[in-house]
Amino acid sequence: MEDLQIKIDDFKSKYPISEELKSRIPEPRFEFFGEMVWNMAVHALLCGKNLLLTGEKSTGKNVLAENLAKAFGRPLWNVSFHVNIDQSGLIGTDTLKNGSVVFEEGPIYQVATSGGFGVLDEINMAKNEAAAVLHSILDYRRIIDIPGSEIIKLSPASRFIATMNYGYAGTRELNEALLSRFVVIEMPRMEAKDLVRFLKKEFPLMKGTYADQFAELYSDLIKKSEAGEISSSGVDIRGIVDALDLVNSGLSVKESLDMGLTNKSFDPYERQLIQDAINARLPKGLTRKDIFEGNYV
Ligand SMILES: Nc1ncnc2c1ncn2[C@@H]1O[C@H](COP(=O)(O)OP(=O)(O)OP(=O)(O)O)[C@@H](O)[C@H]1O
Ligand SMILES: [Mg+2]
Repeated sequence: MEDLQIKIDDFKSKYPISEELKSRIPEPRFEFFGEMVWNMAVHALLCGKNLLLTGEKSTGKNVLAENLAKAFGRPLWNVSFHVNIDQSGLIGTDTLKNGSVVFEEGPIYQVATSGGFGVLDEINMAKNEAAAVLHSILDYRRIIDIPGSEIIKLSPASRFIATMNYGYAGTRELNEALLSRFVVIEMPRMEAKDLVRFLKKEFPLMKGTYADQFAELYSDLIKKSEAGEISSSGVDIRGIVDALDLVNSGLSVKESLDMGLTNKSFDPYERQLIQDAINARLPKGLTRKDIFEGNYV
Protein backbone atom coordinates (compact mmCIF):
# COMPACT_ATOMS: atom_id res chain seq x y z
CA MET A 1 0.00 0.00 0.00
CA GLU A 2 2.75 2.45 1.01
CA ASP A 3 4.76 1.37 -2.02
CA LEU A 4 1.86 2.39 -4.23
CA GLN A 5 1.69 5.82 -2.65
CA ILE A 6 5.42 6.28 -3.27
CA LYS A 7 4.89 5.38 -6.92
CA ILE A 8 1.98 7.80 -7.22
CA ASP A 9 4.12 10.54 -5.66
CA ASP A 10 6.94 9.76 -8.14
CA PHE A 11 4.45 10.03 -10.99
CA LYS A 12 3.23 13.39 -9.72
CA SER A 13 6.71 14.85 -9.39
CA LYS A 14 7.72 13.50 -12.80
CA TYR A 15 4.73 15.13 -14.50
CA PRO A 16 4.02 18.47 -12.84
CA ILE A 17 0.91 20.40 -13.82
CA SER A 18 0.89 24.02 -14.89
CA GLU A 19 -0.69 26.54 -12.52
CA GLU A 20 -3.68 27.31 -14.76
CA LEU A 21 -4.67 23.64 -15.02
CA LYS A 22 -4.64 23.02 -11.30
CA SER A 23 -8.25 24.15 -11.01
CA ARG A 24 -9.22 21.16 -13.18
CA ILE A 25 -7.85 18.66 -10.64
CA PRO A 26 -11.09 17.41 -9.11
CA GLU A 27 -12.10 17.78 -5.49
CA PRO A 28 -14.27 14.66 -5.31
CA ARG A 29 -17.58 15.04 -3.52
CA PHE A 30 -17.31 11.39 -2.37
CA GLU A 31 -14.32 9.36 -1.24
CA PHE A 32 -14.04 5.99 -3.02
CA PHE A 33 -14.46 2.92 -0.82
CA GLY A 34 -13.02 -0.40 -2.01
CA GLU A 35 -9.38 -1.23 -1.41
CA MET A 36 -9.02 -4.06 -3.90
CA VAL A 37 -10.49 -2.07 -6.77
CA TRP A 38 -8.40 0.95 -5.83
CA ASN A 39 -5.18 -1.12 -5.96
CA MET A 40 -6.07 -2.64 -9.32
CA ALA A 41 -6.89 0.77 -10.77
CA VAL A 42 -3.73 2.46 -9.47
CA HIS A 43 -1.51 -0.34 -10.77
CA ALA A 44 -3.13 -0.14 -14.19
CA LEU A 45 -2.65 3.62 -14.46
CA LEU A 46 0.95 3.44 -13.22
CA CYS A 47 1.61 0.84 -15.94
CA GLY A 48 0.31 3.26 -18.56
CA LYS A 49 -2.90 1.33 -19.22
CA ASN A 50 -6.28 2.75 -20.06
CA LEU A 51 -8.94 1.60 -17.69
CA LEU A 52 -12.48 0.48 -18.42
CA LEU A 53 -14.85 0.35 -15.44
CA THR A 54 -17.85 -1.83 -16.10
CA GLY A 55 -20.76 -2.56 -13.84
CA GLU A 56 -24.22 -1.74 -12.73
CA LYS A 57 -25.48 1.73 -11.87
CA SER A 58 -24.20 3.49 -8.76
CA THR A 59 -21.23 1.23 -8.19
CA GLY A 60 -18.92 4.23 -7.90
CA LYS A 61 -17.41 4.30 -11.39
CA ASN A 62 -17.33 8.08 -11.70
CA VAL A 63 -16.42 8.49 -8.06
CA LEU A 64 -13.42 6.18 -8.61
CA ALA A 65 -12.32 8.09 -11.72
CA GLU A 66 -12.45 11.42 -9.86
CA ASN A 67 -10.56 10.03 -6.88
CA LEU A 68 -7.88 8.62 -9.18
CA ALA A 69 -7.42 11.98 -10.92
CA LYS A 70 -7.16 13.63 -7.53
CA ALA A 71 -4.64 11.05 -6.22
CA PHE A 72 -2.46 11.41 -9.33
CA GLY A 73 -2.87 15.19 -9.34
CA ARG A 74 -4.22 15.27 -12.91
CA PRO A 75 -6.59 17.74 -14.54
CA LEU A 76 -9.72 15.87 -15.57
CA TRP A 77 -11.93 16.16 -18.62
CA ASN A 78 -15.19 14.33 -18.94
CA VAL A 79 -16.76 13.26 -22.22
CA SER A 80 -20.24 11.82 -22.14
CA PHE A 81 -20.78 9.49 -25.08
CA HIS A 82 -24.44 9.36 -24.29
CA VAL A 83 -24.91 12.54 -26.27
CA ASN A 84 -24.36 12.78 -29.99
CA ILE A 85 -20.63 13.24 -29.95
CA ASP A 86 -18.45 13.21 -33.06
CA GLN A 87 -14.80 13.66 -33.94
CA SER A 88 -14.79 17.44 -33.66
CA GLY A 89 -16.56 17.27 -30.30
CA LEU A 90 -13.73 15.06 -29.08
CA ILE A 91 -10.63 16.53 -30.68
CA GLY A 92 -11.65 20.06 -31.54
CA THR A 93 -12.61 22.17 -34.47
CA ASP A 94 -11.57 25.28 -36.38
CA THR A 95 -13.77 28.23 -35.54
CA LEU A 96 -13.85 31.87 -36.49
CA LYS A 97 -12.82 34.27 -33.75
CA ASN A 98 -12.47 37.99 -34.40
CA GLY A 99 -12.18 37.34 -38.13
CA SER A 100 -9.44 34.70 -37.93
CA VAL A 101 -9.58 30.94 -37.80
CA VAL A 102 -8.59 29.45 -34.47
CA PHE A 103 -8.55 25.85 -33.30
CA GLU A 104 -10.95 25.29 -30.47
CA GLU A 105 -9.50 22.42 -28.46
CA GLY A 106 -11.78 19.51 -27.64
CA PRO A 107 -11.52 17.52 -24.39
CA ILE A 108 -9.44 14.65 -25.81
CA TYR A 109 -6.97 17.11 -27.30
CA GLN A 110 -6.63 18.79 -23.93
CA VAL A 111 -6.10 15.48 -22.12
CA ALA A 112 -3.49 14.52 -24.72
CA THR A 113 -1.48 17.73 -24.58
CA SER A 114 -1.70 18.49 -20.87
CA GLY A 115 -1.00 15.04 -19.44
CA GLY A 116 -4.48 14.96 -17.99
CA PHE A 117 -6.95 12.18 -17.33
CA GLY A 118 -9.97 11.78 -19.59
CA VAL A 119 -13.17 10.13 -18.48
CA LEU A 120 -14.91 8.48 -21.43
CA ASP A 121 -18.30 8.15 -19.82
CA GLU A 122 -20.65 5.46 -21.14
CA ILE A 123 -18.20 4.65 -23.92
CA ASN A 124 -20.41 1.84 -25.21
CA MET A 125 -22.76 4.53 -26.49
CA ALA A 126 -20.05 5.96 -28.80
CA LYS A 127 -21.02 6.28 -32.44
CA ASN A 128 -18.73 4.57 -34.98
CA GLU A 129 -17.15 7.83 -36.12
CA ALA A 130 -16.24 8.76 -32.55
CA ALA A 131 -14.99 5.25 -31.78
CA ALA A 132 -12.71 5.25 -34.84
CA VAL A 133 -10.74 8.31 -33.75
CA LEU A 134 -10.14 6.74 -30.34
CA HIS A 135 -8.24 3.74 -31.73
CA SER A 136 -4.83 5.33 -32.27
CA ILE A 137 -5.21 7.35 -29.09
CA LEU A 138 -5.85 4.34 -26.90
CA ASP A 139 -3.34 1.83 -28.28
CA TYR A 140 0.47 1.74 -28.26
CA ARG A 141 0.65 4.53 -30.86
CA ARG A 142 -0.68 7.11 -28.38
CA ILE A 143 -1.33 9.65 -31.12
CA ILE A 144 -4.23 11.72 -32.37
CA ASP A 145 -4.26 11.00 -36.08
CA ILE A 146 -6.85 12.81 -38.11
CA PRO A 147 -6.47 12.81 -41.88
CA GLY A 148 -5.55 16.29 -43.09
CA SER A 149 -4.20 17.47 -39.72
CA GLU A 150 -0.85 17.17 -38.03
CA ILE A 151 -0.27 14.16 -35.79
CA ILE A 152 -0.39 14.94 -32.09
CA LYS A 153 1.47 12.79 -29.59
CA LEU A 154 -0.07 12.09 -26.22
CA SER A 155 1.82 13.24 -23.15
CA PRO A 156 3.28 10.25 -21.31
CA ALA A 157 1.11 11.22 -18.32
CA SER A 158 -2.23 11.13 -20.19
CA ARG A 159 -4.63 8.31 -19.28
CA PHE A 160 -8.18 7.45 -20.21
CA ILE A 161 -10.74 5.94 -17.86
CA ALA A 162 -13.87 4.71 -19.59
CA THR A 163 -17.08 3.69 -17.90
CA MET A 164 -19.86 1.52 -19.13
CA ASN A 165 -23.08 0.20 -17.66
CA TYR A 166 -24.62 -3.05 -18.45
CA GLY A 167 -27.55 -5.00 -17.24
CA TYR A 168 -30.38 -2.65 -17.91
CA ALA A 169 -32.51 -1.49 -20.78
CA GLY A 170 -30.86 0.78 -23.30
CA THR A 171 -27.27 -0.34 -22.72
CA ARG A 172 -25.21 -1.46 -25.70
CA GLU A 173 -22.25 -3.77 -26.17
CA LEU A 174 -18.84 -2.16 -26.56
CA ASN A 175 -17.26 -2.71 -29.93
CA GLU A 176 -14.48 -5.31 -29.61
CA ALA A 177 -11.69 -3.24 -31.11
CA LEU A 178 -12.24 -0.55 -28.52
CA LEU A 179 -12.67 -3.04 -25.71
CA SER A 180 -9.31 -4.64 -26.48
CA ARG A 181 -7.55 -1.30 -25.82
CA PHE A 182 -8.46 -1.28 -22.13
CA VAL A 183 -7.79 -3.26 -19.01
CA VAL A 184 -11.12 -3.87 -17.36
CA ILE A 185 -12.35 -3.71 -13.80
CA GLU A 186 -15.76 -5.10 -13.06
CA MET A 187 -16.98 -2.84 -10.32
CA PRO A 188 -18.38 -4.73 -7.36
CA ARG A 189 -21.21 -3.35 -5.29
CA MET A 190 -19.97 -1.78 -2.09
CA GLU A 191 -19.48 -4.32 0.71
CA ALA A 192 -21.61 -3.86 3.83
CA LYS A 193 -18.62 -2.85 5.97
CA ASP A 194 -17.59 -0.17 3.44
CA LEU A 195 -21.18 1.03 3.15
CA VAL A 196 -21.34 1.49 6.93
CA ARG A 197 -18.17 3.61 6.79
CA PHE A 198 -19.54 5.49 3.79
CA LEU A 199 -22.87 6.25 5.53
CA LYS A 200 -21.16 7.36 8.75
CA LYS A 201 -19.00 9.72 6.76
CA GLU A 202 -21.90 11.10 4.70
CA PHE A 203 -24.23 11.35 7.70
CA PRO A 204 -22.08 12.04 10.75
CA LEU A 205 -25.20 12.49 12.92
CA MET A 206 -26.62 9.08 12.04
CA LYS A 207 -26.79 6.62 14.93
CA GLY A 208 -24.41 3.68 14.44
CA THR A 209 -27.02 0.93 14.67
CA TYR A 210 -28.98 2.53 11.84
CA ALA A 211 -25.93 2.79 9.59
CA ASP A 212 -25.67 -0.99 10.12
CA GLN A 213 -29.38 -1.52 9.42
CA PHE A 214 -29.30 0.48 6.18
CA ALA A 215 -26.19 -1.41 5.06
CA GLU A 216 -27.91 -4.71 5.87
CA LEU A 217 -31.00 -3.60 3.99
CA TYR A 218 -28.80 -2.89 0.97
CA SER A 219 -27.26 -6.40 1.25
CA ASP A 220 -30.75 -7.93 1.51
CA LEU A 221 -31.81 -6.13 -1.67
CA ILE A 222 -28.66 -7.26 -3.49
CA LYS A 223 -29.43 -10.86 -2.51
CA LYS A 224 -33.02 -10.55 -3.72
CA SER A 225 -31.83 -9.10 -6.99
CA GLU A 226 -29.18 -11.81 -7.46
CA ALA A 227 -31.80 -14.46 -6.74
CA GLY A 228 -33.95 -12.93 -9.49
CA GLU A 229 -36.75 -11.97 -7.08
CA ILE A 230 -36.44 -8.26 -7.85
CA SER A 231 -34.78 -6.36 -10.67
CA SER A 232 -31.75 -4.16 -10.01
CA SER A 233 -33.76 -0.90 -10.07
CA GLY A 234 -34.36 -0.94 -6.31
CA VAL A 235 -30.73 -1.75 -5.51
CA ASP A 236 -29.26 1.70 -5.53
CA ILE A 237 -26.84 3.46 -3.20
CA ARG A 238 -27.85 6.78 -4.71
CA GLY A 239 -31.41 5.97 -3.62
CA ILE A 240 -30.30 5.20 -0.06
CA VAL A 241 -28.36 8.47 0.13
CA ASP A 242 -31.35 10.38 -1.30
CA ALA A 243 -33.72 8.70 1.16
CA LEU A 244 -31.48 9.54 4.12
CA ASP A 245 -31.25 13.16 2.95
CA LEU A 246 -35.05 13.27 2.95
CA VAL A 247 -35.28 11.65 6.40
CA ASN A 248 -32.71 14.12 7.66
CA SER A 249 -34.85 16.97 6.38
CA GLY A 250 -37.88 15.66 8.31
CA LEU A 251 -39.78 13.28 5.99
CA SER A 252 -40.74 9.90 7.48
CA VAL A 253 -38.46 6.94 6.81
CA LYS A 254 -41.17 5.08 4.92
CA GLU A 255 -41.98 7.95 2.56
CA SER A 256 -38.29 8.66 2.05
CA LEU A 257 -37.43 5.05 1.20
CA ASP A 258 -40.45 4.86 -1.11
CA MET A 259 -39.11 7.85 -3.01
CA GLY A 260 -35.46 6.77 -2.96
CA LEU A 261 -35.85 3.03 -3.58
CA THR A 262 -39.28 1.41 -3.80
CA ASN A 263 -40.85 3.63 -6.42
CA LYS A 264 -37.93 3.03 -8.76
CA SER A 265 -39.55 -0.29 -9.47
CA PHE A 266 -42.65 -0.09 -11.65
CA ASP A 267 -43.91 -3.56 -10.87
CA PRO A 268 -46.41 -3.72 -7.95
CA TYR A 269 -45.32 -7.20 -6.86
CA GLU A 270 -41.67 -6.20 -6.86
CA ARG A 271 -42.48 -3.01 -4.94
CA GLN A 272 -44.11 -5.16 -2.30
CA LEU A 273 -40.98 -7.32 -2.01
CA ILE A 274 -38.82 -4.22 -1.57
CA GLN A 275 -41.19 -2.89 1.10
CA ASP A 276 -41.08 -6.25 2.89
CA ALA A 277 -37.29 -6.08 2.94
CA ILE A 278 -37.46 -2.55 4.34
CA ASN A 279 -39.99 -3.53 7.02
CA ALA A 280 -37.87 -6.48 8.07
CA ARG A 281 -34.93 -4.18 8.85
CA LEU A 282 -36.57 -0.96 9.98
CA PRO A 283 -39.56 -0.82 12.31
CA LYS A 284 -42.59 1.04 10.95
CA GLY A 285 -43.14 4.65 11.97
CA LEU A 286 -39.46 5.64 12.22
CA THR A 287 -38.71 9.34 11.88
CA ARG A 288 -35.69 11.57 11.88
CA LYS A 289 -35.16 11.65 15.64
CA ASP A 290 -34.95 7.84 15.78
CA ILE A 291 -32.16 7.74 13.23
CA PHE A 292 -30.18 10.93 13.68
CA GLU A 293 -28.69 12.64 16.72
CA GLY A 294 -29.29 16.34 17.26
CA ASN A 295 -31.23 18.68 15.01
CA TYR A 296 -31.25 19.00 11.26
CA VAL A 297 -28.40 21.16 10.06
N1 LIG B 1 -17.31 2.02 -3.89
C1 LIG B 1 -17.88 3.22 -3.68
N2 LIG B 1 -17.19 4.19 -3.03
C2 LIG B 1 -17.76 5.39 -2.81
N3 LIG B 1 -18.99 5.73 -3.21
C3 LIG B 1 -19.72 4.81 -3.85
C4 LIG B 1 -19.20 3.52 -4.14
N4 LIG B 1 -20.16 2.80 -4.79
C5 LIG B 1 -21.22 3.62 -4.90
N5 LIG B 1 -20.97 4.82 -4.34
C6 LIG B 1 -21.92 5.95 -4.24
O1 LIG B 1 -22.93 5.73 -5.21
C7 LIG B 1 -23.30 6.95 -5.84
C8 LIG B 1 -23.07 6.86 -7.33
O2 LIG B 1 -21.70 6.85 -7.65
P1 LIG B 1 -21.21 7.03 -9.18
O3 LIG B 1 -21.90 8.17 -9.81
O4 LIG B 1 -19.72 7.01 -9.18
O5 LIG B 1 -21.75 5.65 -9.79
P2 LIG B 1 -21.62 5.08 -11.28
O6 LIG B 1 -21.10 3.69 -11.14
O7 LIG B 1 -20.87 6.02 -12.14
O8 LIG B 1 -23.15 5.00 -11.66
P3 LIG B 1 -23.86 5.08 -13.13
O9 LIG B 1 -23.47 3.84 -13.85
O10 LIG B 1 -25.30 5.10 -12.78
O11 LIG B 1 -23.37 6.33 -13.79
C9 LIG B 1 -22.49 8.04 -5.15
O12 LIG B 1 -23.24 8.56 -4.11
C10 LIG B 1 -21.29 7.28 -4.62
O13 LIG B 1 -20.73 7.92 -3.51
MG1 LIG C 1 -21.58 7.09 -13.87
